[in-house]
Amino acid sequence: MSLIFSATFHRISAVCDNPAAASSLYVHIPFCSSKCLYCDFFSRVVSREQRDEYVGLLGRHLELLHLSGDLTQPLETVFFGGGTPSLLRPEQVASLLERLNTMVGLAENAEISLEANPGKVDLQRLRGYRQAGVNRLSLGVQTLQDDALRQLGRGHTRCQAEEFFDRGRQAGFDNLGCDLMFGLPGQTPDLLLQDLEGLLRLQPDHLSCYGLTVEPGTPFAGQQRRGQLDLPGEELFRTFYLMIHEELTGAGFEHYEISNYARPGRLCRHNMTYWQRRGCHGVGAGAHAFCASGYGRRRWIPADLRRYRRFLQQGRDPAARLESFDRLGAMAETLYLGLRCRQGVCENGFRERFDVTVAEAFPEALKHCGARLRKQQGCWRFDLEGWLLYDHFIVNFL
Ligand SMILES: C[S@@+](CC[C@H](N)C(=O)[O-])C[C@H]1O[C@@H](n2cnc3c(N)ncnc32)[C@H](O)[C@@H]1O
Ligand code: SF4
Repeated sequence: MSLIFSATFHRISAVCDNPAAASSLYVHIPFCSSKCLYCDFFSRVVSREQRDEYVGLLGRHLELLHLSGDLTQPLETVFFGGGTPSLLRPEQVASLLERLNTMVGLAENAEISLEANPGKVDLQRLRGYRQAGVNRLSLGVQTLQDDALRQLGRGHTRCQAEEFFDRGRQAGFDNLGCDLMFGLPGQTPDLLLQDLEGLLRLQPDHLSCYGLTVEPGTPFAGQQRRGQLDLPGEELFRTFYLMIHEELTGAGFEHYEISNYARPGRLCRHNMTYWQRRGCHGVGAGAHAFCASGYGRRRWIPADLRRYRRFLQQGRDPAARLESFDRLGAMAETLYLGLRCRQGVCENGFRERFDVTVAEAFPEALKHCGARLRKQQGCWRFDLEGWLLYDHFIVNFL
């Protein structure tokens, strides 16, 4: 059996015409200072003026959602994702959050996250984000090896990542997470262990750990074709995945999703809305969208800045329909997303929703998963080995 595991992480946000269903918002910031050599996320290197104009468009987009009756209830979670949202000035983040507060309100305990890149983010800027209402930062550390950072095309150093943590705490953030990449070219278990130990010393509240995926069309794909990337094989990849699990759970983190670890009470509430297939609004070019009413509809805002500007200047909704789910599709996606989480997919909820049990709906797929997927305390869950082979097993449900 081949080990097929990818750090599949999707940017799903939503535009929903069922106001009761959505109290989350994703804001896509498609700008970066430079392009990392492995990344195929929608982000561009643009001027400050272009970024400023985009923030104005985001404001219009929010107004449009509000006027159309979509944005109606106080938001429980807001996520500024990218790209590099820390390229926005604090006053820009503040103005968007104030607008939201005036339009629909932010729940008293709303989780407001912002993704940041180390380097060029000083204490004043972090204090500004905190004052604007951001209460959760997610820092793209990736690795603490300066050589590897250079090879990935990251524009920062280990030292800058470490300084960021100090500054974040000084600025008043008590919910600080970071992204780690593993399976990097030339990486050994010892180097990964150094990364994990170094990160744990920074005392993050949350860690997202993604295995490097070589995406078509990226400079890394070219290097791979030319035989210039010394990537780990399946056995080493497996060692890395299990090592991360051991180290982080040993340090008190909960492995609550296939790629995500959190200290108790610190799991990312925003991302949980996605894995639990709950509705979530979204603004910004490149954002995907999900409306949970019926069996669910996914929309997206095409990754095209010119189109985004044109539509909003004309007062038109920039979202386009991507996928409408029927019952079978909704059942399959409920499992595809839900089984990524430690809590799994609960039989009662599934039967209430679809009028059938998981075993009745997918007998062959369950047989294929064997002991890797079990029902415990009423919920279907993969074990760690099952997560390692996730792509291999889950394909049978789709
Ligand atoms: C879209 S990025 C946004 C965060 C921020 N721009 C950064 O890079 O620091 C979210 C995370 O996806 C991960 N990522 C991006 N491309 C990846 C790839 N090809 N393989 C594995 N992880 C990837 C990185 O860990 C990154 O921090
Ligand atoms: S900073 Fe993040 S979003 Fe930007 S290119 Fe690098 S990985 Fe991609």
